[in-house]
Amino acid sequence: MALKADLSALKDGYLRWEKEGNSPFFPVVQSNQGNTVTVEPHGDLIMFGSCDYLGLSQHPVLKRAAIEAIEQFGTNTYASQLICGHTRIHRSVEDRLSGMSDGRAAIMFPSGMSASQGVVATIASSEDVVINDRLAHSSLFMGSRLSGAEVRTFPHNSMKRLETVLRESAGKRRRIIVVDGLYSADGDYAPLDRITELAAAYDALTVVDEAHSFGSVGPNGLGVADHFGVFDKVDVVIGTMSKTLGSIGGFVLTHDWFERELRYMSPSYTSSRGSAPAVAAATLAALDLLDAEGDRLRRRLVENTESVTARLREAGCDLLNTRSHIVPVLVGSEDKTVAVAHWLRGRGVMVAPFVYPHVPAGSGRLRVGVSSRHTPEECEQLVASVTAAKKEFDF
Ligand SMILES: Cc1ncc(COP(=O)(O)O)c(C=O)c1O
Repeated sequence: MALKADLSALKDGYLRWEKEGNSPFFPVVQSNQGNTVTVEPHGDLIMFGSCDYLGLSQHPVLKRAAIEAIEQFGTNTYASQLICGHTRIHRSVEDRLSGMSDGRAAIMFPSGMSASQGVVATIASSEDVVINDRLAHSSLFMGSRLSGAEVRTFPHNSMKRLETVLRESAGKRRRIIVVDGLYSADGDYAPLDRITELAAAYDALTVVDEAHSFGSVGPNGLGVADHFGVFDKVDVVIGTMSKTLGSIGGFVLTHDWFERELRYMSPSYTSSRGSAPAVAAATLAALDLLDAEGDRLRRRLVENTESVTARLREAGCDLLNTRSHIVPVLVGSEDKTVAVAHWLRGRGVMVAPFVYPHVPAGSGRLRVGVSSRHTPEECEQLVASVTAAKKEFDF
């Protein structure tokens, strides 16, 4: 994913759409009623643009936990976690994450962005090579550049090229393979079964960002590595609380030796305020809910996803290689993608438009985020509206 785009994307795209009055970006949300949000000037929109895959951000149990934590701790902590901002709630979140992952050491970062960036920047150095999938999240590329290591890439999910790069980097101290588990703009999985095999064969480390899959994918809800049965073979698992967990924050699950290095040496952890106690409490409540209801919610998510993807495919939409609750509907040009997203809002549906530089130029898409909370009627309205848009805009 591009780290720095040429400014023409700003001038000829984002700023022009603002001027023309059809920009779908930065909608101001007036209120949130669960699956529906109120956005002026459109009114009530069914939300299919979020990453709230199990609908937890609106759950009364999370809301109550956050309110109780504010009453006990106030709205913030006094300093970074290293100094005096590590409350018993933060510690409980780490203990719960560790318990869910067979005793991996867990660290709770301020955000997923800071976790990914901090991990790669800390564990790699100038004697190493970091090998990124080209579609890996920008936070992983930022960490790779910051680390001072040589940065290599391979075409998305090309195991042949990954093996070649591993072979070519034989002289390095550490070879670190860095991928997303579930790709946020394409909806497909990294082939972690093969990647962990290659890592073992070439004595490489694996770092997997499970931002979109932790909680929602795999028999134990631990993500794509869990889906492939290789969770124990991944050296560093990164996640976020901002998607399936309905909260805010990032985390890392790893071996003890990296845990000590990250906890004391990663600036994005040591030199940044941790989550507010209310936010950490919402995360803790989400982890409890996943424990009790995760299987049921994930089954529902799969049902909704299958129904939406089957019907959009029947309608002739190009959904790339999605195999998850992230359903990209390919539109093509940036202008058309923006126009379609704007048009859909006029018909009561919010989806997320993804255009360059967040996806390659000319491959603009509507990113549909399916949730277990969507009702059959809401899924029906989404499919009918996207199908109508396809006819109207010919994509
Ligand atoms: C793959 C991936 N990693 C990390 C992040 C950042 O997570 P957070 O919102 O917690 O900073 C995102 C957010 O979109 C993401 O898609």
